[in-house]
Amino acid sequence: EDTERDKLIEAHELTAKLYHYLLMNTTHGQQALSYLRGRGVTDKQIEQFNIGYAPPEWDTLTRFLEKREFDLSKMEKGGLLTARNEGNGYYDKFRDRIMFPIWNRDGKVIAFAGRLLGEGVPKYLNTPETKLFTKGRVLYNFHGARVAMRKSRNVVLFEGYMDVIKSWSAGVHNGIASMGTALTDEQIALLQRNADDAIICYDGDNAGMAAAMKTIPLLEKAGMRVQVAMLPQGMDPDEYIEKFGAQSFMREIIEHPASATKFRLIYAKKNHILLEEEGRKNYLLEAAGIIAALDSPIEREIYLKDLSREFDISLDVLKQDVFAHREKSY
Ligand code: GTP
Ligand code: MN
Ligand code: MN
Ligand code: MN
Ligand code: MN
Repeated sequence: EDTERDKLIEAHELTAKLYHYLLMNTTHGQQALSYLRGRGVTDKQIEQFNIGYAPPEWDTLTRFLEKREFDLSKMEKGGLLTARNEGNGYYDKFRDRIMFPIWNRDGKVIAFAGRLLGEGVPKYLNTPETKLFTKGRVLYNFHGARVAMRKSRNVVLFEGYMDVIKSWSAGVHNGIASMGTALTDEQIALLQRNADDAIICYDGDNAGMAAAMKTIPLLEKAGMRVQVAMLPQGMDPDEYIEKFGAQSFMREIIEHPASATKFRLIYAKKNHILLEEEGRKNYLLEAAGIIAALDSPIEREIYLKDLSREFDISLDVLKQDVFAHREKSY
């Protein structure tokens, strides 16, 4: 019922304020604040993303909510508290973690992601599925990115919270993140309504590239133009910005995305040993298949010419191969 949802949203809004206050004003918060600053998160972004800190005690939030007469069993179902194993009562779900509020489309806090200050598992603890929060329906920072997204009709997709936050200070104001899972149909539809173009900027590791390969066709099927901003091997956007700076991130990475086709070719290439004739042949066959899927003859010609030059194979032969692929698919 509506009032119950409203009450839970109110609890989340208050909790976000509490955690933010504790980050900015308490001794315990100091080390969390140093951690964030050490990672290059500016005070401006701490405010904007309303980042907070859940203290190590077991009952800080529990007592806070109790004092304000929230129904604690509902707060437990809402993902803020955990029920004690023995006896009655509840304790705080998030302890000693940096807290990232997650907003719904109206900008209301409906969940949290809590990050450890150091190593350990889980690195991120998320609110479970609740009345308010369904992971597959929410995109981190969608609310904050909406204005820039609609204005530019362009969206930048990241993997992580930190990537969104750090790239905001670098100048990317249309960045969102799915929260460690593949994009759902509903998330795709939401993006498609607000943007025509997408730039995928996932982590520069195998997992990130594999995730990009999965995301590309989903966005394309929704009619979006997709490009991929690639990072050096082993780096994510947050690390790149720390190491090379905001300007380099914008100029070298975000403003120079590869086309989806180019990215598919790069990805295919990684799976073949080009030093060997067999590997070269297999790559060329796979590449011909990728290029054959393009509807525009001009685009096909551009990629084929590159291949022809790179592998010293006549354009004619490549075209024959592509033609055979296209015949097959009709
Ligand atoms: P930092 O180490 O803080 O920079 O995080 P990251 O975003 O670089 O982490 P990573 O690349 O490992 O993961 C990308 C995203 O996957 C995160 O931002 C989370 O949304 C999600 N994720 C990663 N680890 C966990 C985890 O332990 N639990 C959950 N629920 N999600 C995670
Ligand atoms: Mn503040
Ligand atoms: Mn990763
Ligand atoms: Mn990462
Ligand atoms: Mn990172």
